[in-house]
Amino acid sequence: MARLRCAVLISGRGSNLKSLIDACADPRFPAEIVLVISNVPGAGGLAHADAASIPTLVVDHKKFAGRESFEARLTEALARAGAELVCLAGFMRLLTPSFVARWQGRLINIHPSLLPAYPGLDTHARAIADGAEEAGCTVHHVVAEMDAGPIILQARVPILPGDTPDALAARVLKQEHRIYPEAVRMIAEGKVRRLPG
Ligand code: GRF
Repeated sequence: MARLRCAVLISGRGSNLKSLIDACADPRFPAEIVLVISNVPGAGGLAHADAASIPTLVVDHKKFAGRESFEARLTEALARAGAELVCLAGFMRLLTPSFVARWQGRLINIHPSLLPAYPGLDTHARAIADGAEEAGCTVHHVVAEMDAGPIILQARVPILPGDTPDALAARVLKQEHRIYPEAVRMIAEGKVRRLPG
């Protein structure tokens, strides 16, 4: 059976990218990574792709006049690579409604909170400050509104007494590395209700 062709967009260390690469290394996994794009030159995650001989591309947003031309370059590269699913993995650029519409139904993200709680940044510090008892992570479809699309998969972890944001982030990240490949598998196997796209 043909494997689902995925592209992964990163901005940083790429530990979620690495978890996807590791999952795809199993020939029975129903997806493969055909392209990794970073908007940050030298992003740590690019080394994971290089080590796995996955094509990489740097599309530095600072070199473009605006979001539209930056995203046009992304779309061109994604289309040329034949990407069927685009996985945001620590990609720190907001995407315009027209890019999101172009990839609707084929664009997913992982976020380190139990959405709809704590969209945006600093999720762990905010959850601890609120005295929340649990935290977690969410794989979701990307829609125009940030961190707001339909949820595909979540994992929960407890917030422990004395937790620091870093300690909680590490506990959540372990679950991110488990559920992102699992969500991709579910999509590849047709087990996720698709957004119209
Ligand atoms: C992860 O916590 C992810 O949920 C968030 O950004 C972080 C990226 O980490 N969107 P990494 O680059 O995958 O290690």
